Formats: sequence, C-alpha cells, structure tokens
Amino acid sequence: MTADLKNKFIIEKVKESKLSQANFSNLIFGKLFSDHMFLADFYDGKWHTPKIMPYQALTFEPSAKVFHYGQAVFEGMKAYKDAEGNVFLFRPEDNFIRINRSSERLGMPQIPRAYFLDGIKELVKLDRDWIPTGPGESLYIRPVYIGTENAIAASPSMSYRFMIITSPAAKYYSGDVKVKIEDKYSRACDGGIGYAKAAGNYAAQFYPTEKAKAEGFQQIIWTDSAQHKYLEEAGTMNMFFRIGDKLLTAPSIPESTRILPGVTRASIIQLAKDNGIEIEVRPVEVNEVVEAAKNGNLKEIFGSGTAATVLPIVGLKYRDFYTDLPKLENSYAGFFKNKIMDIQYNRIDDPYGWRVKVD
Ligand code: COI
Repeated sequence: MTADLKNKFIIEKVKESKLSQANFSNLIFGKLFSDHMFLADFYDGKWHTPKIMPYQALTFEPSAKVFHYGQAVFEGMKAYKDAEGNVFLFRPEDNFIRINRSSERLGMPQIPRAYFLDGIKELVKLDRDWIPTGPGESLYIRPVYIGTENAIAASPSMSYRFMIITSPAAKYYSGDVKVKIEDKYSRACDGGIGYAKAAGNYAAQFYPTEKAKAEGFQQIIWTDSAQHKYLEEAGTMNMFFRIGDKLLTAPSIPESTRILPGVTRASIIQLAKDNGIEIEVRPVEVNEVVEAAKNGNLKEIFGSGTAATVLPIVGLKYRDFYTDLPKLENSYAGFFKNKIMDIQYNRIDDPYGWRVKVD
C-alpha cells in the first residue's frame, strides 16, 4: 500500500462475519456478497478518505445523475487461491488502466491508482476466507464507479462514488452456450462507447439478447453497426474463431472503438503468439466464418472474459443457417483455458508477470 493511502484509509470491520451462513456448495454467479466493501467519494473537485466498511445498502437521492444519464463504469476481476492458500490477482493493472479509460470517455474524473489497486488488495485480504477453493472457483471482484450529484441537468456529475464489492464465484455459464449472429440490433458504433466498460453497454444488449434466448441462444455475437458485415464481441465475452489452424479475433482499441479490450482476450493473443498458434487480429467477416462452417473449416468458436474465462461455443446461427460445433479433443479453447488458469492459480511459472500476489 502506498504511504499516502495507508495514513488515510479507514477500515471498519463487520461485528460478525456472514461467512458461516454462506452456502458455497451451489454458487450462483453474483448473488452472494462477502463481508466488506470499499467506498471512496469525489466531491469539491477532489477525492476524499476511502473506507473499507461492512457490505451494506446505500442511500441515494432519486436526482442522482447516474439514474438519469448513466454515468457508470465498472470492472470485472477475480482473486484466486492456490493449493497453499496464497491469494493472487490477475493483471490488475490492466483493469486499472481500463477503468480510467472508460471514465475518461464518460467524462468522469480519474480514479487514483492507490484507491483502485490497494483498495482491492486490502478488501481481498480482509475477506480472504470468502475465496472459494473448488475447481475453477474464485472471488469475483466488481469495482463500480458512478456519478452521484443530485442534479438533473444533462452535464457531467460534480460528485462521484467509487465502490468495490466482491462475490464468491464458480462458473458463469452453467450449461452449453450457443450463439446467434445479430444483424439487426447493434451494441456499439465508431466513436461511441463500445470500448468502455460502461454500464449502459450491457443494458443496450439485454433486449436483443433476451430475444435470442427465447430462440435457444444464450448469447449474441454483435456485428458492426454500419454494415452488419464484421463480427465483433458477445455480450459478456470477446470472441475467437478458429478456421483451419488459424485463430481470428476482432481488433479493439486503437484500431476499433467498438470493442472492449478484454484482459483475457489480450492474454490469449499473447499466448497464441508465444505458443506457435497463428493468430490474426483483424476485422472478421461474417461470411468467412459462415463459409468456413459450410465447408468444414470452422473448427472452433470460443469466448473469453473474466467471468466466463474461456468458453467453447457449441452452436452458431446466422439468419437461416445453423451449425453445431463439435467438442474437440485438443481444442485451442482448452489449451488457453488451462494455461490461463494454471497461471491464475499459481500452478505454473508466470513468465509474463500477470499474477500478482496479495500479501
Ligand atoms: C466480466 O467478465 O467480468 C464481465 O464484466 C462481464 C459481466 C457481464 C459478467
């Protein structure tokens, strides 16, 4: 922790932990919250003393700007426990950079590095017994940042609240995931906020995604808003397409302002390059993927994200075309998932410095 923060950090611990009442045997994503939360307020042009305090309901006036204009950005991260009980984060600096990039785009002040990184570390240390240790389990970390000024003029808020909550997590998707290529609705446009982890990006997806779910598809793959010609990302994941032995994925910033620069996505791109897997980061045409499916060259589609990790897709629909995607023995998805999880859970060396110990 930086000296500056240590002196100013208020820590109020719970009187009694809720841990003994928590059921870890059937973890539903994002439903159970650990004992403590982090909270820091910005007003009068500066940040004020951050607190770690018992997880609790908060009071906001109905005029708070976030409710009207959606000045809200967030992050998704995880804390992992190894076999010896050591606790690790995965590439937290990347999430810090991303939340401030998102904040900038939504006209919000930058979050101090120490609040974000030390806030997470202190919170995770305090609630380390909430980190589940079953296969693939972790403590999901959700930093969230909102405009709180009580004023309904359409202008940036003059006050803000940055919070971090944590939630014991198992798998995000419990069953197989089939995707539908969306060619009517859009998630993002050039120059928009697609690259930001803005809350509104997720709200914008719910309606078309619910329609797809009613047809039996758990996620949509978005296409570019201008032509619906290029494949972008899915609602909770970046997407990878394996045609023959080549991996394709859409570009994010700086080449495209429409796609979220995923931390898991960046890790897969790096691992592909270092493990002899040919990868092209470029606009991927719907037609080339559908044609590959028709002539038997589409070997895999998988999604990547913090919550979903690396998720093989089992079916793809585009207009009136549908194909099942067979589960491969030696899939790229399996390779990346194992490598990334082995690094996250401290099972192998980490030549990249992605794993950050919380001590
Ligand atoms: C994550 O993968 O952490 C995300 O933020 C996606 C969210 C919809 C669960």
